[in-house]
Amino acid sequence: MVLVENERPKVLVSSTEMVSRSLDKSASGCCCRHYLDLLPFEQRVLKRSVFGDTRSIIKHAPRTRASKEKAGPGRSHTMQNGSRTTSSHATSETIHAAGGSTAVHVEVRLKPHSTASDEQVRSEVISFLTATFTTLQSETEVTDWTSSPFLSINVNRIRIAEIAASSSSSTSTAVSVTDAALQIHVYQPSSTDIIDEFSAADPNADDPDETTAAAVSELPNLSLDGIWDTLIYSDDIKPKLLNYIYTTLLFSDASVDFNLVSWNRVVLLHGPPGTGKTSLCKALAQKLAIRLSHRYSHGKLVEINSHSLFSKWFSESGKLVQRLFSMITEMVDDEEAFVVVLIDEVESLTAARSAAAQGSEPTDSIRVVNALLTQLDKLKHRKNVLIMTTSNMTDSIDNAFVDRADIKQYVGLPPAEAVYWILESCLKELMRVGLVGQVSLPKYQDVLRSQMALETDDELPAAGAESRAGEKLLEIANGCKGLSGRSLRRLPVLAHAHHIGMAQAPIDCEIWLEAMAKALHDTRKQGAITGI
Ligand SMILES: Nc1ncnc2c1ncn2[C@@H]1O[C@H](COP(=O)(O)OP(=O)(O)O)[C@@H](O)[C@H]1O
Ligand SMILES: [Mg+2]
Repeated sequence: MVLVENERPKVLVSSTEMVSRSLDKSASGCCCRHYLDLLPFEQRVLKRSVFGDTRSIIKHAPRTRASKEKAGPGRSHTMQNGSRTTSSHATSETIHAAGGSTAVHVEVRLKPHSTASDEQVRSEVISFLTATFTTLQSETEVTDWTSSPFLSINVNRIRIAEIAASSSSSTSTAVSVTDAALQIHVYQPSSTDIIDEFSAADPNADDPDETTAAAVSELPNLSLDGIWDTLIYSDDIKPKLLNYIYTTLLFSDASVDFNLVSWNRVVLLHGPPGTGKTSLCKALAQKLAIRLSHRYSHGKLVEINSHSLFSKWFSESGKLVQRLFSMITEMVDDEEAFVVVLIDEVESLTAARSAAAQGSEPTDSIRVVNALLTQLDKLKHRKNVLIMTTSNMTDSIDNAFVDRADIKQYVGLPPAEAVYWILESCLKELMRVGLVGQVSLPKYQDVLRSQMALETDDELPAAGAESRAGEKLLEIANGCKGLSGRSLRRLPVLAHAHHIGMAQAPIDCEIWLEAMAKALHDTRKQGAITGI
């Protein structure tokens, strides 16, 4: 049985080697092997000693779950010689038995009530996948695991994520299960959205300010699950971000002298509104919490409301920044926690600083932004933290801030190919829930090819429903130039509301696509092409 191919954009599946290696630093033999293959010999020796240290043993304790054992430093040696390490070896041997030289990352989400151990889940998933599939396809959901009673009871999602071949140049979207080195990432997300809110009010003042300065949520979190997979880019933004994290972890673990080689742990995503920047930051936080679960027992996402920092007199904002960051520092002090800080729409901070520089704002505002920059500088020495920032305005970001970002990634409007994928994912979702009749949609490249064939040969047989749907979708995608991802994901609602109305579901796919074309026409007519 071959896992049905999911027509994900190639960029997702090409998040190959570095990505797989980036996050698979499990001390179990197999994962180490892949990781070490990347390194020159001297570094391999270094990495072995890093993996052999106490810290790496603690990291391999199971992650935060109701049943999680808390492993303090004093327990690490016991754990090394105890049953948990033994079962961890058993897992890596099972991976070996699968014959694998190609790392295949599999994310397994446990049901909320499950108390199964990670090791048991890993080995069950490996047995299930090897017994059920002959080929594994990257970026696909496994839909049925009822053949395993254990998994039926404990698991509610299995996703084959990236596939990474062992030679550095090769990329792969499918691999024979016998060649797969399965890397199973087990997680149990929290279902509570926000666990803490940080008020902008000064605790010592009788100030009734109710503005929320920051919200904290647990990672991994159910509400963020799957967002990573729904974000579609035609370039390699997503693997690039994962690789960056990998590099910072690698450098930290190798104890690179910060005075000689330094980085800030700050990522800046900038570009037009509605292009998925905020979503991508949150999705990355979730991905990291899942993939780093062998290193950190739990994760936290701190979302800072940039606007709140300037909603008051600047002198008070300075104190607010300090209170906020002392809370973050407290979180980061817990070395078992991985903390992602998201400062959204950072232009509001930096704009204030530039305005001050031009003399139109009090100098206090400079102090506030400087306080923020100073706090960011302090955090750069802590390896369990990542600062993600976004901006809708590329030009107005303060230089001192931009300079601190290790990665400054432009996130642009989607090109036709990505638009096709986004619209296709909308359509598939509506088919899944039964609102639109089932049609298997062709891949973007196949539609292009058949269009070219049509242009050169008019003797071709009449197109079937599938290729007609593909052609229509391509035509709509070509007409969507300039629309943001947000506007594209809204089109189906507009199409239904304005051009389908009360018609009985499921709607025929061709009628649906006609309605989409009309909705696009309306959107264009209203001039709503900015995605705001
Ligand atoms: N490249 C994309 N692929 C898929 N969906 C997208 C994309 N860009 C935007 N979206 C959709 O638009 C919504 C809004 O995105 P958001 O993260 O708020 O954008 P931004 O922060 O850039 O304004 C997302 O929830 C997502 O559904
Ligand atoms: Mg945003």
